Amino acid sequence: MTTSEFFTRRFLRPVLFFSFTVLLLSCRAKDRDCIRPGEIWPDNNGVHINAHGGGMLYYRGQYYWFGEDKSERSNAALKGVRCYSSKDLCHWKDEGIVLAVVEDEPAHELTKGCIIERPKVVYNKKTGTFVMWFHHELRWRGYSAARVGLAVSDKVTGPYRFIHSYRPNPGIWPENMSEEDKSLDMEEASRLESWTPEWLEAVRKGFFVIRDFEGGQMSRDMTVFVDDDSKAYHIYSSEENLTLHIAELSDDYQSHTGKYIRIIPAGHNEAPAIFKKDGRYFMITSGCTGWRPNAARLLTATSIWGPWEQKPNPWQGEQADISFDSQSTFIFPLAGKKDAFVFMADRWRPRNPSDGRYIWLPLEFEDGLPVLRWRDSWSPAKAFKK
Ligand code: GAL
Repeated sequence: MTTSEFFTRRFLRPVLFFSFTVLLLSCRAKDRDCIRPGEIWPDNNGVHINAHGGGMLYYRGQYYWFGEDKSERSNAALKGVRCYSSKDLCHWKDEGIVLAVVEDEPAHELTKGCIIERPKVVYNKKTGTFVMWFHHELRWRGYSAARVGLAVSDKVTGPYRFIHSYRPNPGIWPENMSEEDKSLDMEEASRLESWTPEWLEAVRKGFFVIRDFEGGQMSRDMTVFVDDDSKAYHIYSSEENLTLHIAELSDDYQSHTGKYIRIIPAGHNEAPAIFKKDGRYFMITSGCTGWRPNAARLLTATSIWGPWEQKPNPWQGEQADISFDSQSTFIFPLAGKKDAFVFMADRWRPRNPSDGRYIWLPLEFEDGLPVLRWRDSWSPAKAFKK
């Protein structure tokens, strides 16, 4: 063997082989786009993002993702609401706990161990205040309090100051409830067996609205939506999760004006996520099966005050009937792009809540309606190129 043959065999070939492999692997890594639904999503510290049931706020060139900080063992709030920031929706910086539960004060409404779910933050331009609404349950009371909580801050990353929590619209009738339904015979309706057609008819008429009239309407799964005219709405599962309510918020977004409607009565909708496209409102919701997934629903309307119409499940593909093991939480428009919306959902892990995964997908449109299709990975830059 000549010296040059020896050199080629012993050094050049292995070096070339090694370089080629590295190149191939790095190309593969680039092909895997930055959003990978269902996988561990590390933050800037390499820790899986802990912001479940979340919401998104775009403010001064950055996205802020707010969500439930969950522990390994409990779904209750042991810390509070956590926030992350990002410029590209791929890389997230942990901004820490922005609304903290109250330690060592068992009588406090927001005491450690209460339930804080589905926090949503909106920015009020008039007051320069960040307003956080969330589903709040009192400690040791399961989901029976069914309240909405309010917290505010002058800074997007907090700290948020807890104001109070309550059941919305006490003593006020929904705009779209008829006089006849308001005078439903409650004694007779109370005797009906649950889930019979007669009982469902009583629920449709407003049995629970009447029952809760004095103390305020139940408010569990929720979102907040700010319309093009800056008016904000609180949308929540009410009436024992049987009927959604849409309630108008005051100009400073910090209270309910008293104007509200019921939608899809007795439809059993949870997890509302809403967006507006070409003057039309679309809402994706889930059925009510707790942490277990079910088939999503799609509702649409041309006015926020309805009428709302139900369309088929927006999910397509093999696991459409269980929403690819997820439940909707929020939909937000991509900054600077027209008609580009990101759908956010949770894949719950009730046995280890902090391990819950995030199912984010770009909304596609077919015949004017939103469609969701599974993708193993995608990136906002490419998904909405057109
Ligand atoms: C789900 C709801 C979650 C949580 C859970 C508790 O239906 O969407 O936010 O409240 O029930 O079982």
